Amino acid sequence: MNVLIIGSGGRENAFAWKLAQSEKLDKLFVCPGNAGTLQFATNVNIGESDFESIKKFVIENTIKMVVVGPEGPLVKGIYDFFKEDAQLKNIPVIGPSKAGAQLEGSKDFSKQFMIRHNIPTARYGTFTKEQLPDALKFLEGFNPPYVLKADGLAAGKGVVIPDNIIDAKAELSEMLGNAKFGEASSKVVIEEFLKGIELSVFVLTDGKNYKILPSAKDYKRIGEGDTGLNTGGMGAVSPVPFADETFLKKVEERIVIPTIEGLRKENIEYKGFIFIGLMNCKGEPYVIEYNCRMGDPETEVVVPRIKSDLLELFEAVGKQTLNEIKIELDTRTAVTVMLVSGGYPGDFEKGKIIIGIENVTQSLIFHAGTKIEGENIVTNGGRVMAITSYGNTIEEAVGVSMKNAERINFDNKYYRKDIGKDLMNRD
Ligand code: AMP
Ligand code: GLY
Repeated sequence: MNVLIIGSGGRENAFAWKLAQSEKLDKLFVCPGNAGTLQFATNVNIGESDFESIKKFVIENTIKMVVVGPEGPLVKGIYDFFKEDAQLKNIPVIGPSKAGAQLEGSKDFSKQFMIRHNIPTARYGTFTKEQLPDALKFLEGFNPPYVLKADGLAAGKGVVIPDNIIDAKAELSEMLGNAKFGEASSKVVIEEFLKGIELSVFVLTDGKNYKILPSAKDYKRIGEGDTGLNTGGMGAVSPVPFADETFLKKVEERIVIPTIEGLRKENIEYKGFIFIGLMNCKGEPYVIEYNCRMGDPETEVVVPRIKSDLLELFEAVGKQTLNEIKIELDTRTAVTVMLVSGGYPGDFEKGKIIIGIENVTQSLIFHAGTKIEGENIVTNGGRVMAITSYGNTIEEAVGVSMKNAERINFDNKYYRKDIGKDLMNRD
């Protein structure tokens, strides 16, 4: 079977690595891909939301499955585009319909969905520009810190958590009154701050059945000790030691089942990943957010822990026969450490030559922002590559990734040396 992956990050490199191991795979393509996906696939120079060019490519290359990595094309309706096209309608798209992608595309939609289906989440209110005075009053009903969320997609920057009421009111006025995040903050969700430890649970669903994939914790801040600006993610660990069996059972019963059932009852087609961002508040799970795709860099630890054939799982998603497949997981811990360009998540330079990849041993390297330039692999983004290692403990896996992080070099390389440290000695 010929497969097309859409996207260009570490997540898509991890999908490509895994799908390339399937005996069912013939040709693999990634659009647009990166220097890492080239090891397993042919890169195709088509933008991830250029649906007409994707259609032409899919037909010309007898693609039989499309796996969508990022949220952008999903929120724009790539699933529906395929379903409504006479030539494409029988080609499974791994990812939800446009309606399903609203779980990520609109914070207000996802909060309302959770309320409708009794899924535990923080108390909240949603306000438009015209309701700014009410919104400012509503804020006063909470204790600090305050959680303000732009309703729409804002490239991961739409959540602001001021720690006092003065800053919170100023921020809220900026978001609603001055369209700080453009159209994305034309509505703002104000919610209660949840105190606890964060983790993510990933679910693969065919719309009827589901498989719970390994849980993961990511490290969002740029600085060690979780300080500084938010990034796409600086590293990840799977499994999460504080997500024990009792906790995960609560997640399944109170969150996963009602989510899948809720989608089904509302006739929202969903054949893909659900990324559930959770807060563990004294052993009780609350949903912070849904994403309609896998996480990055969480994929770089979750996919390496799936032993089953991923292409077979995806085929079952398309046919709605996930219940017939048993998913096998690797019990080892996986850790990934992200090498980034100095300056990220602010300004950074691209085009730095990357050396030393050939000296890496015992780790998987998943490229994120890289490309080929002449004879060299060069940096082409803020997050450059993820170094994933297995271990019997977090310490062991982290140790291997850190050793290899020193072996790969480029100008202004930066990485967090404390990935997983907060979780050590707990497992
Ligand atoms: P999001 O962009 O929705 O992932 O939110 C960014 C981050 O804000 C999350 O990863 C949490 O760390 C934090 N956050 C969001 N909502 C809450 C909440 N209700 N309580 C505490 N922290 C939150
Ligand atoms: N690592 C967080 C995300 O993929 O949204």
